[in-house]
Amino acid sequence: MALLPILHFPDPRLHTKAAPVAEVDDRIRTLIRDMAETMYEAPGIGLAATQVDVHERVVVIDVSEDHSDLLALINPEILERSGEQIGEEGCLSVPGIYDKVKRAERVRVRALDQNGERFELEAEGLLAVCIQHELDHLDGKVFVEYLSLLKQGRIKNKLIKRARITA
Ligand code: NI
Repeated sequence: MALLPILHFPDPRLHTKAAPVAEVDDRIRTLIRDMAETMYEAPGIGLAATQVDVHERVVVIDVSEDHSDLLALINPEILERSGEQIGEEGCLSVPGIYDKVKRAERVRVRALDQNGERFELEAEGLLAVCIQHELDHLDGKVFVEYLSLLKQGRIKNKLIKRARITA
């Protein structure tokens, strides 16, 4: 197991569109284990491969309080969205920044599991938000891009300044 370095906004690599996983093999299972360890250590409730500079369609999510419910989605697709919810979001790639984003209340998702088997999942509430947020990462989109350009500019400046101080 290994902790992976997480890219921080506005790193341009966060805007890479991830490619589908061609084969679910040991390399992908190791990536999932390392991503889960990195997410738990951070701590966070979701992490997309994009955020650790691996541009393949893999995300890990665990919205439980005791790290007991790891969900790994490979090549995930949202089949259906319904309803609406507005919640405060944060992101391990945008540390210390939280803001409201409008999302679907419920989603139905199809993905491959760690054995390469296809499955479907229905999610609502926080899990649905997390799935939408992580799938955005795979398409190169960070949640702050839903905010006004003014806010995005402020967030960029803040994170660039902070990176200079800690570098
Ligand atoms: Ni994120």
